[in-house]
Amino acid sequence: MNMDSPFCISLKDVEEAHTYLQDKVHLTPVLTSSSLNRTTGRNLFFKCEIFQKTGSFKIRGALNAVRSLSAGGEGKPKAVVTHSSGNHGQALALAAKMSGIPACVVVPSTAPSCKKAAILGYGAQVVECEPNDESRTYTAANKVQETGGVLVHSSQDPAVMAGQGSIALEILQQVPAVNALVVPVGGGGMLAGIAVAVKALRPDVKVFAAEPKNADDCFQSKLNDRLTPNLAPPETIADAIKTSIGASTWPVIRSLVDDVFTVSEEEIKRATQLVWERMKLVIEPTAGVGVAVVFSQRFQALSKEIQNICVVLCGGNVDMGALDWLQNPKDTATS
Ligand SMILES: Cc1ncc(COP(=O)(O)O)c(C=O)c1O
Repeated sequence: MNMDSPFCISLKDVEEAHTYLQDKVHLTPVLTSSSLNRTTGRNLFFKCEIFQKTGSFKIRGALNAVRSLSAGGEGKPKAVVTHSSGNHGQALALAAKMSGIPACVVVPSTAPSCKKAAILGYGAQVVECEPNDESRTYTAANKVQETGGVLVHSSQDPAVMAGQGSIALEILQQVPAVNALVVPVGGGGMLAGIAVAVKALRPDVKVFAAEPKNADDCFQSKLNDRLTPNLAPPETIADAIKTSIGASTWPVIRSLVDDVFTVSEEEIKRATQLVWERMKLVIEPTAGVGVAVVFSQRFQALSKEIQNICVVLCGGNVDMGALDWLQNPKDTATS
């Protein structure tokens, strides 16, 4: 427990992470689209973590976690291990490589092949498991034993949460007039890190979670006022957010997140396509979840006083191999 905060992290942790990360990650741009502003009747600001190192915000948390492990009395860990649908795996692989530490990443067998290839490319070992939370946890625990390493959880590790929170410090500087942030939620590390920073510095700014209807554990948890994980492995195109929020992130989300908005698979696909076409930004469907939320009926019904909305475009690691015309370029060219 952090002594300055009722939660496992405080603003101070996020600020320290931000200072450490400043010369190690990109200050990603905030882009706008007048066409999407017109469609929604609000001013939308897109925080482009798609341009972040490794193609998603995850490098922030991974680097901060490796820093905090190496700062402990025992020095650098023997190895770092994690289970991840891909983006945290890539990020931890790179963060470990930058510190000269071996990394092992447990990946569900269903994860997009581009994400597995990228993890291997950063020099980490990839181990496949069944696509469910139990298999991920069990396989990773075995790897920790085998390597004598340390597990870095993709969302429940406090140093990871603090690292992700640095996104909020940048947004508050880049868009001072912001009224609300829309943040896709899987395990909730990004959402909780951002919420801790925003509510400490600008309690007037709303923090909204964005979630697929098919993986709505965060929505259900808020509704029931108790942690309510997804029962079965969710089926959603937003492959990076199939995991449930957990013991570290739930207390923050419960207290500091203003609302959770859910969207259908159809809405996610349409929003993703819209951003590709109108903004020419390659976002992955998980980032499309946040965009779909601002287009959703329930969000549209919010007071127009919530005018300046910042959507975190959290990742751009699209599995290009899954696009038909890239798989069969000859067929398309001759048809
Ligand atoms: C692109 C992307 N967006 C959002 C998330 C959700 O992050 P969190 O698990 O911290 O909620 C992830 C997690 O892997 C991700 O890769």
